[in-house]
Amino acid sequence: MGNELRSAKWFAPDTDTGFQHRAALRSEGFTKESFAGRPVIGICNSWSELNNCNVHLRVISEAVKRGVWAAGGFPLEFMTISLGEELTMPTTMLYRNLMAMDVEEMVRSNPLDGVVLLCGCDKTTPAQLMGAASMDVPAIMLPVGPMLSGRWRGQQLGSGTDLWKFWDERRAGRLSDRDWHELEGCLSRSPGTCNTMGTASTMTGLAEAMGMMLPGAASIPAPDSRRLACAEATGRRIVGLVQEDLRPSRILTREAFENAIRILVALGGSTNAIIHLIAIAGRRGISLPLSRFDELSRITPVIVNLQPSGKYLMEDFFYAGGVPAVVQEMLPLLHEDALTVSGTTLAESVREAICSNRDVIRPLNQPLQREGSLAVLRGNLAPQGAVIKTSAATPGLFQHTGRAVVFENYEEMMRRVDDPALAAGESSVLVLKNAGPVGAPGMPEWGMLPIPSKLLRQGLSDMVRISDGRMSGTGFGTVVLHISPEAAVGGPLAIVQTGDEIRLDVPERRLDLLVDGAEIERRIAARAPAPPRFRRGYYTMFLDHVLQAHEGCDFGFLRAQPDDKPYEPQIGRT
Ligand code: FES
Repeated sequence: MGNELRSAKWFAPDTDTGFQHRAALRSEGFTKESFAGRPVIGICNSWSELNNCNVHLRVISEAVKRGVWAAGGFPLEFMTISLGEELTMPTTMLYRNLMAMDVEEMVRSNPLDGVVLLCGCDKTTPAQLMGAASMDVPAIMLPVGPMLSGRWRGQQLGSGTDLWKFWDERRAGRLSDRDWHELEGCLSRSPGTCNTMGTASTMTGLAEAMGMMLPGAASIPAPDSRRLACAEATGRRIVGLVQEDLRPSRILTREAFENAIRILVALGGSTNAIIHLIAIAGRRGISLPLSRFDELSRITPVIVNLQPSGKYLMEDFFYAGGVPAVVQEMLPLLHEDALTVSGTTLAESVREAICSNRDVIRPLNQPLQREGSLAVLRGNLAPQGAVIKTSAATPGLFQHTGRAVVFENYEEMMRRVDDPALAAGESSVLVLKNAGPVGAPGMPEWGMLPIPSKLLRQGLSDMVRISDGRMSGTGFGTVVLHISPEAAVGGPLAIVQTGDEIRLDVPERRLDLLVDGAEIERRIAARAPAPPRFRRGYYTMFLDHVLQAHEGCDFGFLRAQPDDKPYEPQIGRT
């Protein structure tokens, strides 16, 4: 270990404060020998009973501690905010930046030499990566892992993806009460994250491909004993990272982010990852414009056959070889020299990967989709961009002109969408406003607008829907998302009216309002600014500082500034 341990500033001085710091650990029952001179490893745990996906992390953290002790470190576990998609309202996205601040400031303010980041549900992964990227002490990530495949009467059930399908069946009057209630107990059979390639598995897969996890760590099922073995190995490895002084700044490079974009496309992963990658990169001072996502998507195939883009579930993905097998297949398209927490290059870290099911992870020359899974659109409705997940959309709708049916906000949409009098037909374009970072606030996953039940009953299964909101990574359909700037800050979406024609052209990457330019100007000039909705608390802070979707929705003041370095606290009397 070439450098003095960061924790030595707390524990080494023969002063009253050094005494206090040592005495604090002694009061927890540790002997002096258990911590003196050892790297102190923080285990940053997002366990919470309010987050069903992450409840297995307490068991996992014990296995991490085992590894830390075995490698000569001293583990100290701490909790942060945890964000569970199912219970947190209006959306976990409102709190991602708050959790990132929690992670960064807990590491900064405590005697930690390195940190193990225990994540899982959607926002916990980007939040921890954002905090770790800003604080830049040696860090390694370990997720809770995906839950087991859902099962109902002999058929496999995918989290979210099958829920939305059954919900539409129920709204169309084709699913009984009994079946609906029985399904409730069959969809999620174990702890862990969604078993489709939703946002959670997309983000953990990208974290692994960016080099922030041990190979294979992302996709081992949550209840599988191999996850605990991986946890122990992760605990051992963080001690090595401290000894080697290998920090996130050497791993989270531009090359690593470009690899992540390629893998995102190959996975057919969640559109939410676009926002998170931009935000994480921003913490390292790296700009990832939306245009780069589009450029790489055009030349990257989808090779992973998982719901919602494909057929299989996360258990199948793990048995097929998981992320290491995908990375190995994708190496010709990746920056293979990117450094990983293993201390090796990305290429070396997957050298022994094996793919055992070529229908789940396809060869590069037999992809699920030759051109990538994402497209970035621009036009007079989205001057700063919008995204569509083409791999989960209907190709027949990629070039479509239709009349808008406008909902001014979520409440109005929920009130009117199933009204038999709603003036919507199968060629209509459903428009939802005020679902963006400021408008909602927090940019909830409202973007997969429900198809009006009268159209479902006629057998319609997809239609064009556009909004400034997000969509669950388990969602699907011809859904244009993340329109930027959003309606609430004066984006052109705000002036769309029911009956206007809207043109979607995915091959040309366009989204346009087919209304005369002078009329658009007139409507924009006639808009009155909305009065502030919140006067105190976190919501006010969020609205004052959140950036737009194309900028990653981070708080502006949390992005890296030119030449800044993580600052250290003054250590003395508190
Ligand atoms: Fe937590 Fe899907 S709800 S991962």
